Amino acid sequence: MAIRKIVKLGEDCLRKVCKPQEKFDLRLWLLLKDMADTMYKAEGVGLAAPQVGILRRVVVIDIGEGLVEMINPVITSREGSQCGREGCLSLPGRQGIVTRPNKVTVRFQDRKGVEMEMEAEGFMARAVCHELDHLDGRVYIDVMDRELTPEEIEGHVPEDDYE
Ligand code: NI
Repeated sequence: MAIRKIVKLGEDCLRKVCKPQEKFDLRLWLLLKDMADTMYKAEGVGLAAPQVGILRRVVVIDIGEGLVEMINPVITSREGSQCGREGCLSLPGRQGIVTRPNKVTVRFQDRKGVEMEMEAEGFMARAVCHELDHLDGRVYIDVMDRELTPEEIEGHVPEDDYE
């Protein structure tokens, strides 16, 4: 198990457009393993490769329903909207209210390069949108409705409707 250092906002690699992952080899599998270990250790629900300094289109997500690995993911449809709280391991101590689609369809490749498609709803749709944004150099504060105050981070926020 190798825990990688999570890049924080302000470092260049969080603002780059990542390149497609072309090889589905041991090196990718080691990256996926390290990313999952790093995400679980940090108690996050998702992590994108640029957050560990690797500019490739690779994300891992686990919202408590099992690990999902997505290579070269693309959102192919979006439906509805949801407004809710979001944070990011690269922006510790901060949260914002972000409007996201309520349902997305995402196409991606698995760790062997096999084409997959998944429908994600609710919090999973939010996680997919958040992680895919990282692959294009975007973070949630670029698209948030507003930032939460420290008091709101501790307590209830009226807009919280996704839980
Ligand atoms: Ni993030």
